[in-house]
Amino acid sequence: MEKTKKFMLQESDIPTQWYNIMADMPNQPQPLLHPGTKEPLKPEEMEGLFAKKLVEQEFSTEQFVEIPEEVREMYKAYRPTPLVRAYSLEKALGTPAKIFFKNESVSPVGSHKLNTAIAQAYYNAAEGIKRLTTETGAGQWGSAMSAACDHFGLELVVFMVKNSFNAKPYRKNVINTYGGKVFASPSELTQYGRKLLLEDPNNQGSLGIAISEAVEMAVTSENTRYTLGSVLNHVLLHQTIIGLEAEKQMEMAGEYPDKVIACFGGGSNFGGISFPFLRRVFSGERKLIAIAAEPAACPKLTKGKLEYDFGDTAGMTPLIPMYTLGHDFQPEQIHAAGLRYHGGGRIVSQLKKDGFVDSYAIEQEETFKAGILFAKTEGIIPAPESTHAIAATIREALKAKESGKSETILFNLSGHGFLDMAAYEKYV
Ligand SMILES: Cc1ncc(COP(=O)(O)O)c(C=O)c1O
Repeated sequence: MEKTKKFMLQESDIPTQWYNIMADMPNQPQPLLHPGTKEPLKPEEMEGLFAKKLVEQEFSTEQFVEIPEEVREMYKAYRPTPLVRAYSLEKALGTPAKIFFKNESVSPVGSHKLNTAIAQAYYNAAEGIKRLTTETGAGQWGSAMSAACDHFGLELVVFMVKNSFNAKPYRKNVINTYGGKVFASPSELTQYGRKLLLEDPNNQGSLGIAISEAVEMAVTSENTRYTLGSVLNHVLLHQTIIGLEAEKQMEMAGEYPDKVIACFGGGSNFGGISFPFLRRVFSGERKLIAIAAEPAACPKLTKGKLEYDFGDTAGMTPLIPMYTLGHDFQPEQIHAAGLRYHGGGRIVSQLKKDGFVDSYAIEQEETFKAGILFAKTEGIIPAPESTHAIAATIREALKAKESGKSETILFNLSGHGFLDMAAYEKYV
C-alpha cells in the first residue's frame, strides 16, 4: 500500500472554537497579582493594557471559546496546516518510532505566531483601538503582528531586541513591508529605554526589556494597547488551533502520540500543540507526556524556581506564578532569540509541577545539528527555535531505538529558518 506523507484537512475543518485548558486542569494555577498591591489582579485592572475581550479570555475558565468569523477567514490564508510523517528522518535515525510534525512554518510570515496575532489584532480593532505596541525577539512575532495589524487597519510599534535588530535585518523589512514601525530596544522612545541607555549605551537588550518599553508606551499613549506573543493564557488559548487540527489529523493517520514535543520560549507553540492532547490525559482516556524543549542558555522549566515573578524586566507587568530564572536574568546571545525569555507562564508551570509536562535544556550545538539533519531529510530548514523541538524528538527517537520500543512522537515545527541563514552560516 502506498504510504501517506501528509495528512491534510479542508478549510471547512478549521476549528470553530479554541480549547481552554483552564476548564479541565486538575489543579488551577495561582492567580496573577497586581504589581503594586500584590493582591489578586482584577480583570478591570488589565483593561488599560489589553483589549477587553482579551482580558476576558485571560480570566476565562470556559472550556471552548468561539473563534470569530473574521479570524477564521484570515486563518484560511494558510490553515489548516499539514501534519507530516517524517519517514526520511525516521530512516536516517534507524528508529522504530513513528515521527509526525505539524508544519506551522507554512504561515505567510513563517511561524505559528500569526495564529494569535490575527485574533489579538481583530479584538483590538473591534473595540476601536487605533494603535498597538509589542516586543519581538527574533522578529517572528513582530512580523506576525505587523501582518495582522495591516489586515485589520491598526498601526503597530514594535520594540525589537537590539541584538536581533542588528543580526536579522530582513525581519525588520518584513515588519516594514506590512506597515509596522520597528525600533531597536532599548530605545530612546521610552523613559525606561533612555534610563538603560544612559547606564550602558551598548545594552544589547532582551525580551524582558522590550516588553517593558512596549508596555510603557501603551499605558502612556492615547488609544493604544499592548499585545504579547506568548506566556499569557489568552495567547496559549489562540494557539490551541494547532493541537485541535493535529488531533483530527492524527486520527486520519490512525495514530495517537505517546509524546508531544515543542520548543519553549514563553510556551505558546508548546501549549498550542499539547493542550488539546492533555485534555484526554486529564479525563483518563489517554496517556502521554508533553515535552518542552528549551535552550540550555535559558532553562526556566528545567532549572528555574516556581515563584511569583514579573513578566518584564522593569517590573511593570502583573506578577505571574511561574517557573522563572528571575525577571532580570540576561541569557547569553543564542541564535534562537525567541527562546530567550525568563519565565514559563502560569498554566504550563502548574502542569509541570503536577507532572504532565517534562522538559529538556539543550545546547545550541545539538539543536543546529538536529536542524541540519531535518533539512537534509525532510527538506525544510527550521527556525533556530524549532530546531530545539527537533533535537528533543531525535533524543526520544534514539531512546526508542535503544529500547526497541515503537512509539509515536508528534512535534511542532513552529517556523522556518529562511530569515535565519546568518545563524546557519555561522554554524556550518
Ligand atoms: C519560530 C518560533 N518558534 C518558537 C518561538 C517561541 O515562542 P513560544 O514559546 O511562545 O512558542 C518563537 C518566538 O519568537 C518563534 O519565533
